[in-house]
Amino acid sequence: MIFTVAVDGPAAAGKGTISRALADRFGLAHLDTGLLYRAVGAKGGDPVAAARSLDPRDLARDDLRTLAAAEAASRVAAIPDVRAALVRFQRDFARREGGAVLDGRDIGTVICPEAEVKLFVTASPEIRAHRRWLEVGGDAAQVLAEVRARDLRDTTRTDAPLKPAEDALTLDTSALSIDAAVDLAATLVSRRLP
Ligand code: DC
Repeated sequence: MIFTVAVDGPAAAGKGTISRALADRFGLAHLDTGLLYRAVGAKGGDPVAAARSLDPRDLARDDLRTLAAAEAASRVAAIPDVRAALVRFQRDFARREGGAVLDGRDIGTVICPEAEVKLFVTASPEIRAHRRWLEVGGDAAQVLAEVRARDLRDTTRTDAPLKPAEDALTLDTSALSIDAAVDLAATLVSRRLP
């Protein structure tokens, strides 16, 4: 079975949680594509060379979840040659036998426009910043400012900006519990499963 679930949306909207839960529930492979950009940013040096030479050890670093890594990821993700270097791996993953869930910013629009299910998972900036603050702590106002800055950079870059695919289903998690959001997403997936 070839079956792709594309889960796009802004930072801390719940994409990762929903994607992992869908992968578990339906026995699909899961790829957090943000991790690729975080690993490229964390490698330092020339980002294009870093993207071209990315290997599994780079993805296993334990410092990829920090705000600094997110910020660096968002910057390198605006470089077209960095994105181009990561396309083939993501496309192959999306169309692997057995089915896959990929979460990111451009999965339904660029990486896998033919995905059988496209979800755009979103929530208000305040709620997303609060969720991120619960994870990372620090100054809440600064976390909100960083969420807004990253949204702006991710949505306004010229190459593969964050936006819903025309045929994506939008899932606003602002007022939903994790379980409710996962159940809703699972219902949408099960309707399309062969
Ligand atoms: O999902 P995340 O917070 O781990 O993503 C980190 C950054 O990587 C995000 O600000 C934008 C970029 N990104 C992207 O441009 N395209 C993707 N498919 C995934 C992430």
